[in-house]
Amino acid sequence: MEKIKVAVIGATGAVGQVFMWMLADHPMFEVDYLTASAARANQVYGSTVHWLLPFEMPHAIRGRVISEFNAEEMKARGVKIVFSALPSSVAAEAEPLLRDMGFFIFSNAAAMRYHNNVPILIPETNIETLSLIEDQGFPKRGFVVTNANCVTTGLAMAVAPLRKYGIKEINLCSYQSVSGAGYPGLSSFDITDNCIPYIGGEEEKIAKEIKKILNFNPIVDAYCVRVPVMFGHLEAVWLTLEEDVSVDDIIQTWADFKEVPDLPSTPKQPVVYDSSNTFPQPKYAFWGTPKGMEVYTGRVKKQGNRIGFMLLVNNLVKGSAGGSIQNAEAFVAQYGITQS
Ligand SMILES: NC(=O)c1ccc[n+]([C@@H]2O[C@H](COP(=O)([O-])OP(=O)(O)OC[C@H]3O[C@@H](n4cnc5c(N)ncnc54)[C@H](OP(=O)(O)O)[C@@H]3O)[C@@H](O)[C@H]2O)c1
Repeated sequence: MEKIKVAVIGATGAVGQVFMWMLADHPMFEVDYLTASAARANQVYGSTVHWLLPFEMPHAIRGRVISEFNAEEMKARGVKIVFSALPSSVAAEAEPLLRDMGFFIFSNAAAMRYHNNVPILIPETNIETLSLIEDQGFPKRGFVVTNANCVTTGLAMAVAPLRKYGIKEINLCSYQSVSGAGYPGLSSFDITDNCIPYIGGEEEKIAKEIKKILNFNPIVDAYCVRVPVMFGHLEAVWLTLEEDVSVDDIIQTWADFKEVPDLPSTPKQPVVYDSSNTFPQPKYAFWGTPKGMEVYTGRVKKQGNRIGFMLLVNNLVKGSAGGSIQNAEAFVAQYGITQS
């Protein structure tokens, strides 16, 4: 099958690099167009990018030339899908413009997440919300599908299968890696040997997004902390349930939570529990197949109808670019999209 032409906008940032890595050899998509800020137009990707990922840059993307942002040219070249890794303020202007030109946009930016007809999609948890693209005018018009804030994605994955126990309250504390702030992100003076107990806007986003994604209304209280690790967000979560559920039932419920069929970027076991009392750790952020797409849980505790656990999500892969690619795969599978 002819691969579908995609563009990556914001291809040089932390999230953009994961798009470029994961799309370098993707069975459904080929990167036809890539952009960054205006200063990088016409530069060679491998020479200009500050590569952050903990493995080699794929050879296939090193010689790619970065284009200036030109939506007309993207259209003329036959690009159908746009993966957006733009800062939110830039996305707020660019994404509606691209949508109105008929592109199918899968975005990491927060700019359009809270619009009523824009889904915050995680295929394993709320695939039914993909049909909101029809409210945006698809198939006659383009659309925007977003993915969640990265902490929320990990939380939604672990909590979605537990919804059947009635979740009244969610309390969490996150330990978030520096890559979550993009590149160059925080000053090394601020984060080396230090933790910062505030990430602007993050706690409010978690409360708002988890309710929209899982279509429920628990009390949500979060503290978000930036810690000096490179990749992966760890979360300590307490749920207050309506039912009295055993630790074994919680672990079995995660084990029974299986893949959405036939999506290349969906792991066979999306939530992986391990009983070791030192699991999970951020150093496992790129474990699994596909790398970085599994969410890890551990340290389950019970106090009456309260269940506590730790989780780890790779903020750049499942929590952003990988999640977007998975969303686009779900869209192509559901609507039978082809390049021609
Ligand atoms: N990092 C995460 O864990 C994470 C998780 C979930 C969602 N997100 C969201 O994903 C988006 C990207 O995050 P990031 O961490 O990758 O940020 P980043 O490292 O700062 O990268 C931003 C990208 O946008 C480009 N860019 C910046 N200003 C631009 C402009 N005016 N016009 C065109 N391109 C511009 C940059 O190009 P240059 O390199 O040339 O400056 C770079 O490619 C953000 O909206 C963020 O909130 C991030």
